[in-house]
Amino acid sequence: MDLTAYERRLDRPTRVKLPEFQTNGRLKHVIFADQFDRPMLENFNNLSNIVRELARDRETQLFLHNLLPQKRAMLYFSQASTRTFLSFTAACQLLGMSIAEIRDPSVSSEYKGESPFDSMRMFSSYSDLVVMRTPSAGFAEACAYLMNDLDKFNERTVPIVNGGSGADEHPTQALLDVHTIQRSFEFKSERDSSRWAQFDEYRKMYPDLTRGPDSKVYGFCGDIRRGRTVHSLASLLANFSDVTMYFVSPPDLGLPVALRESLLGKGVKVFEHDTLNDIVQNVDLLYMTRIQWEHDKDTAKGSGPAPVNADFILTPELADRMKSYARIMHPFPRNAEIPPEVDHNPRAMYFPQARNGMWVRAALLAHLFDVDGLIVSHHRDVFSEYHNYNTASS
Ligand code: NCD
Repeated sequence: MDLTAYERRLDRPTRVKLPEFQTNGRLKHVIFADQFDRPMLENFNNLSNIVRELARDRETQLFLHNLLPQKRAMLYFSQASTRTFLSFTAACQLLGMSIAEIRDPSVSSEYKGESPFDSMRMFSSYSDLVVMRTPSAGFAEACAYLMNDLDKFNERTVPIVNGGSGADEHPTQALLDVHTIQRSFEFKSERDSSRWAQFDEYRKMYPDLTRGPDSKVYGFCGDIRRGRTVHSLASLLANFSDVTMYFVSPPDLGLPVALRESLLGKGVKVFEHDTLNDIVQNVDLLYMTRIQWEHDKDTAKGSGPAPVNADFILTPELADRMKSYARIMHPFPRNAEIPPEVDHNPRAMYFPQARNGMWVRAALLAHLFDVDGLIVSHHRDVFSEYHNYNTASS
């Protein structure tokens, strides 16, 4: 991918770029995890919970469905995807948006030599938002600059959402991961969400345990160097206080220096380890990832999932050694790093985590189209009685 025209802008420090991706304190494009601060994460958590609740019954679901019927989304996925594609599709449907998709550039005019930037401009001509996944780091960001430049000339422009860019970033996955963590660490009882029953139980065994993502130990295992979900999630978690991170990976797939420096700069305590065995009993959350063999596709290693070294496999025995309240997450797809026997461990969160993508992405779309306020006030109107009752009883 030739990004020369945008090289100068792509090479700037993130901090300098951020204002270009927002307008009036709201997100304009979603490119990096660093665009989200703590108040925004709390807001998205709240909004995602509200969308989930409104989607439960017909009448409130119809309210959501009537919010954005005039909007069209383009899903441009030139790299394999199951969850990101389907959950964005479901999120658009929840809000009544219609969808067009290109999942294979060989069926678009790129095959005839059209530049990816001309293609992008075409997508923006027919849609109101582009969600894109590409193997090229920097392409989604460059597309956001293309849109900003068009804006300056009063041409048509649409929000760009990065649905995974190369080995670089995957901010919307990180957003759903943080939402999953925020919900998990409320330690509410599943059956009676108004009570802190679970928390009280855990506290008997772990008196220092606190609610929420602060003061927690996060373990990341697998392909740390090329795992874009790891990069974006670690950056988002750095917004919380008193955070410790353990990274476990094969020696050649360790933490990129720039990310380590950025995490240290935000006050995160960072440690690197050689085997899961060293960390399982100490983590509050374990984020497992697969080895991303497709990045080696020009070598023998890139021909498919290779056997995973035992140091990076979460066996049922290792999972049982984790703290009882700890959680296991995985962005999926998984290879051999979590055997299916672990799926029934009460700590396993990866299936609810994937489903959360739908609510979080609907919340993000609602924010981008400025209907989040309507959702919050409708929810207040419909559920106020119920929530007052809950507060009174807890
Ligand atoms: C990840 C991705 O594509 O980066 N999957 C996802 O979006 N849920 C992780 C991976 O491919 O291993």
